[in-house]
Amino acid sequence: MRRLLVAGNWKMNASVAMTQSLLSELRAAQIDQCDVAVFPPFPYLTQAAQLLSGSAVALGAQNCATEESGAFTGEVAAPMLADVGCAMALVGHSERRTFYGETDETVLAKTRQLLASKVTAVVCIGETLAERQAGQEEVVVAQQLKLLLEQLNAQQWQHIILAYEPVWAIGTGETATPEQAQAMHAFIRAQLQILGADVAQATRILYGGSVKAANAAELFSQPDIDGGLVGGASLDAAEFLGICRA
Ligand code: G3P
Repeated sequence: MRRLLVAGNWKMNASVAMTQSLLSELRAAQIDQCDVAVFPPFPYLTQAAQLLSGSAVALGAQNCATEESGAFTGEVAAPMLADVGCAMALVGHSERRTFYGETDETVLAKTRQLLASKVTAVVCIGETLAERQAGQEEVVVAQQLKLLLEQLNAQQWQHIILAYEPVWAIGTGETATPEQAQAMHAFIRAQLQILGADVAQATRILYGGSVKAANAAELFSQPDIDGGLVGGASLDAAEFLGICRA
């Protein structure tokens, strides 16, 4: 049975005071209905690790470099994320694909880096509105998975979580209906069968795109939705805890 995971992607939103306040509330809530993870911006990872030390809330980063170390000014390598206490890291978020040229090839390279550092890779996939309107959502998502399925083995996939985030639902308030989300999650899970039934059944597939406390229960009740990757609502302790308690 896959345990639900509610993950908060803070994106480029944080301060020392906000990190202190939000994580103190999350820690005090002692959520046990699901797994919980938070993904602050890089500068706040050490503070977050200290605040979460000894709690069940996992720490994640929002990105990593394609290389282990070296002359890559401004980049943050996977070993550094592990070093400061990250258990997970996002890879291939649509905002990185759109604004920073992330490709299926760099997603694979970053995933390899994370796995080598024993950091779970949370790989983001999803179609744009134009692709959905063209009926291409399954083609797009299958393509985004292709290299990962070809190049990584079943053992490596034990340390990968997928996040299906229809781009048209991110930050728009236009949440995918539970039926739309379930259909895509079932399709994604079917693609994982090529690595064996164990991988297909064990891999957690999160839904992301305007998840709120009001819609979380219906989304998470779907058989192939294993939790949420939450953006805006993760910045508000009450809303985020409402999603965790859904
Ligand atoms: O990574 C999660 C994010 O893309 C979803 O954002 O604000 O629609 O919950 P939001």
